[in-house]
Amino acid sequence: MGLWTTKPLSVLMQEAGGDGEHTLKRSLTAMNLTLLGIGAIIGAGIFVLTGTAAAQHAGPAIVISFLIAGLGCAFAGLCYAEFASMIPIAGSAYTYGYATLGELLAWIIGWDLILEYLFAASTVAVGWSGYFTQMLRDIGIDLPTALTSAPFTLEGTHTIVRTGAIINLPAVLLVLLMTTLLVLGIKESAKLNNAIVYVKVGIVLLVIGFGFFYVDAANWSPFIPAQLTDEAGNLINGKFGWSGIFAGAGVIFFAYIGFDAVSTAAQEAKNPQRDLPIGILASLAVCTVLYILMALVMTGMVPYPQLDVAEPVYVALDAAGPSLAWLKYLTNIGAIAGLASVVLVMLMGQPRIFYAMSRDGLLPPIFGKVHPKYQTPWLATIITGLFASFFAGLFPIGILGHLVSIGTLFAFMIVCAGILLLRYKRPELERPFRTPLVPFVPLGGIIVCGYLMYSLPPDTWLRLAVWMALGLAIYFLYGRRHSKLAQSGS
Ligand code: ALA
Repeated sequence: MGLWTTKPLSVLMQEAGGDGEHTLKRSLTAMNLTLLGIGAIIGAGIFVLTGTAAAQHAGPAIVISFLIAGLGCAFAGLCYAEFASMIPIAGSAYTYGYATLGELLAWIIGWDLILEYLFAASTVAVGWSGYFTQMLRDIGIDLPTALTSAPFTLEGTHTIVRTGAIINLPAVLLVLLMTTLLVLGIKESAKLNNAIVYVKVGIVLLVIGFGFFYVDAANWSPFIPAQLTDEAGNLINGKFGWSGIFAGAGVIFFAYIGFDAVSTAAQEAKNPQRDLPIGILASLAVCTVLYILMALVMTGMVPYPQLDVAEPVYVALDAAGPSLAWLKYLTNIGAIAGLASVVLVMLMGQPRIFYAMSRDGLLPPIFGKVHPKYQTPWLATIITGLFASFFAGLFPIGILGHLVSIGTLFAFMIVCAGILLLRYKRPELERPFRTPLVPFVPLGGIIVCGYLMYSLPPDTWLRLAVWMALGLAIYFLYGRRHSKLAQSGS
C-alpha cells in the first residue's frame, strides 16, 4: 500500500450513509449552514484588520484588495462546493484529499487544517478578549492587565519574550464556553450561532447604511495612493500602488476564512448534497458584498491614515460626530458577538476533521468517539478546546494570524487542484454541483491563492515548514502504521 493510494469513493459514501449511535446527528438546514458560514467569516478580519491594511498597504484601494481576495475565495468556494456535493463527509478538504490525492497528501491537508481551524479559534479569541475587556472598562470594570493579556510575545520575528502578564483569561473562558456548547449539541450550537449572526450582520448593515451619509468623496482621492519610496528613491514593496493592493489582499484574506467550515458539518446536514454548496456559496457571496461596501464606507468617512488602529470601525464612526455615537457602541457589541461566533464555528470544524482522520486510523480512536446522547464528537471537541484555550491564553494575536492565512490558502490550492485532477481521472462520477468553467476556475483559484501565499512574510513560510515537518513525523510514527486503508490491503 503506497503513500499515494486513494480511499475509494464507494467506501466514503458508505460511511456517509451510516446510521445509529456512532454517527453524528443530521439536523442542519441550508439556512443553518449559510448562517454557520457567515458566523465563521465576519470577525476579526473586517472589525480589526481592515484599518491597518488600508492605512499601511492599499489606502482606499483596500476595496480592490477585498475584490481580489474575494475572487480567490470564490474560485476556491466553487471547488469546495463541487467536492462537498460529491463527497458529503465530515472531514472537508482532508477527505477530498484522501479520495483524490492519496493518504500522505490527505494527512498533510488534515494537519494543515489545524492551522486554519484550531489556530483561528485561538487568534480570534484573543481579538475578542481585547474588545471585551475594553467594553468592561467603558462601563467601569477594570480587569488587571496581568489577567487579560498574553504572558509571551514576539520580539522581532523569532524571539519569544515574557511580558509579565499571567494569562489572557477572557480568551480562555470564551473558548471553554464554546467548547462546552459544542459538546452538548450541534443544533444548540447552530441556534446560538444563528442569533449571533443576525446581530452582527444587522450591525454591519447599520454601519454601511448610516455611514454612507457621512462619506466625503475627497477621502477616496487618490483612490490608489502612489507607491512610497525609500531615501534612496527605491520603490517600497507593499506600500501603496498596486503592490500595496496585493499586500493588502494578503492581509485581509483572513477576513474571508471560514466559508469552508460549512463543509466540515457535512454529516450533520439534512440534505448535504444540495445544501452544502448553498451554504458555502451563499455565505461567501453575502460576506463579499458586505465587505466591499464596508471598506468603501470606512475609507470614505475618514482619511485612510487615521484607520491605523485596532478598532477602525469605531474610529470611522467617531469621525462622524455625536450623531452616530449610538452606533459606535453598537459596533462594539457587533464585534464582540461577531468574534464569538467565529470562535464557535472554528471550534466546530476542527473536531470534525479529527473525527474523520481518526475514523481512517490516522489519529487515535479517542478522536472518533461520538457521545451516545448528544451525538457530537465530544472527546475531539474537548481536546480541541483545551489546545485552543492554551494558545489563546498564552500567545498574542500576531504570532498566529498569518499562520492561519497561509495554512488556509494552502488547503484552498489543494482543493482546487483536486477538482481538476478528479475531472480528468473520474469524469463519470455524479456531481450534484459542478464547478463552472473548468479548468479556468480551479486554475484561477490556484493562481490567486498561490499569489496571496507568496505575499505573506517569509517567516510565516518558515513556520509553515516547521509545522509540516512536525506533522510528517507524527504521520510516519503513528498514522502510517494504523491506517485502516493500509490494513485493509487495498
Ligand atoms: N474570517 C474570520 C475573521 O475574520 C476568521 O475573524
